[in-house]
Amino acid sequence: MKKINKICCIGAGYVGGPTMSVIAHKCPEIKVTVVDINANRIKAWNDENLDKLPVYEPGLKEIIAETRNKNLFFSTEVDKAIDEAEMIFISVNTPTKTYGKGKGQAADLKFIELCARNIAKVAKDDKIVVEKSTLPVRTAQAIKNILDNTGNHVNFEILSNPEFLAEGTAINDLLHADRVLIGGDETPEGEAAKEALSAIYEHWLPKENILKTNIWSSELSKLVANAFLAQRISSINSISALCEKTDANVQEVSKAIGLDSRIGSKFLNASVGFGGSCFQKDILNLVYIAKSYGLQEVADYWEQVIIMNDYQKSRFANNIISTLYNTVSGKKIVFYGWAFKKDTNDTRESAAIYVADALLEEQAEIVIYDPKVSEERIYADLDYLNTRSEEENRKLVTVVKDPIDASKDAHAIAVLTEWDEFKAYNWETIFKQMLKPAFVFDGRRILDKEKINSIGFNYYRIGENA
Ligand code: NAD
Ligand code: UGA
Repeated sequence: MKKINKICCIGAGYVGGPTMSVIAHKCPEIKVTVVDINANRIKAWNDENLDKLPVYEPGLKEIIAETRNKNLFFSTEVDKAIDEAEMIFISVNTPTKTYGKGKGQAADLKFIELCARNIAKVAKDDKIVVEKSTLPVRTAQAIKNILDNTGNHVNFEILSNPEFLAEGTAINDLLHADRVLIGGDETPEGEAAKEALSAIYEHWLPKENILKTNIWSSELSKLVANAFLAQRISSINSISALCEKTDANVQEVSKAIGLDSRIGSKFLNASVGFGGSCFQKDILNLVYIAKSYGLQEVADYWEQVIIMNDYQKSRFANNIISTLYNTVSGKKIVFYGWAFKKDTNDTRESAAIYVADALLEEQAEIVIYDPKVSEERIYADLDYLNTRSEEENRKLVTVVKDPIDASKDAHAIAVLTEWDEFKAYNWETIFKQMLKPAFVFDGRRILDKEKINSIGFNYYRIGENA
């Protein structure tokens, strides 16, 4: 089996950065180089001040401090890193297409193709190319076609090794992965390549947790895993709407069903809706693939997960409007949280963006506090929607650094992210400063209902009649 000494990872994002940091940390004899065309991102990965890393993840900066410039390198020299490496991970973004055929559903594979062409151009010796990005089933065929037509007699083995980490717990998920999935050709060369990649993970994970499959099963399993996870959230969120009408309590329902070992208790927290860069994009991609094979019923089945998620976000916004006497025009509403979940600075597809947009359409004045998200990011998220002008977004939305001060003269607080610090706030002070009646809309069900009610708030939370 070929022993790997040099790895290159193309794409220094939320997956490439943490994943390669953990490989470097666990495999000190391997030189790991993470490259990106985004020079600012690489600069931030190399910043002396570890609080300025481009990705915030608990435990990440400690690992970077230990490995960076020893066996972990961040660089913009893509060609050099490809040339040196025996194994190349492709970990670039694969967003939903915004143009042409498949617009709004299919994955945009232009960044993947550019990587494959770059590898084909630079490689002078045999390489193992690992798909780390989430890709439509059968993408490996396209990568192979590009790599095998270079005429430079280099042999490429292509593996699929999808990543299952969740943001906010990325380091823990990488260190204690439930499983690692490696798909590859079932030829002697393919099997050898799978073994070479497996050997890297075996530095810290038991061999029995490393699952080897054919390449298509591996590619498809990643999309299916995300679809199943998101489906659980949409399922419980659909029930949260029913609970609000029937005096049932969604948390009690989740617990009652989750104790059935066939159902299981994880991922059954009702919320304002799932966000993040992947659930929606991967389900849309699954829907597109099913449609393209003529499987309309399969496509419709999975599309419903997204429809339910959109419904949950608008339901939350509509409840705020109707509870505040059917008008939020000119009313100050404070958002606690903007990130799509706690412990990350990532805001991609965050439910907060869509709730804010709906309230801004009604001329609300929104004040936003998030412990890890910058003002720039928040405005960029709103501007990206193109619902109103940039000036209007800046006129109606203020981003603040003091969450308690923000509550002065506010009509309502809306909890959009489940940051732990929100639970520890002095809610008595917040209440005193707000206009009365003072409302709290808890989209994450994190606050203590009895305590908040006893202070005098009108408290609404997802999945429960007030
Ligand atoms: P990201 O946008 O944070 O990072 C991707 C990086 O790739 C960017 O910095 C971009 O500049 C770089 N890039 C694009 N084209 C390039 C090229 N030709 N050469 C060099 N660099 C290039 O994306 P991410 O969140 O890290 O996701 C990457 C992939 O992993 C996606 O397919 C995603 O679906 C998948 N994934 C993401 C997560 C997650 O939690 N974010 C988890 C599992 C899987
Ligand atoms: C998800 C998957 O959990 C990862 O396994 C996968 O690798 C990743 O997508 C990916 O492919 O990108 P991530 O989106 O980072 O990870 O975070 P999750 O913990 O899955 O949360 C996603 C969204 O669902 C968040 O908005 C979260 O608040 C919400 N959620 C999660 C709920 O509303 N209820 C729950 O019970 C769980």
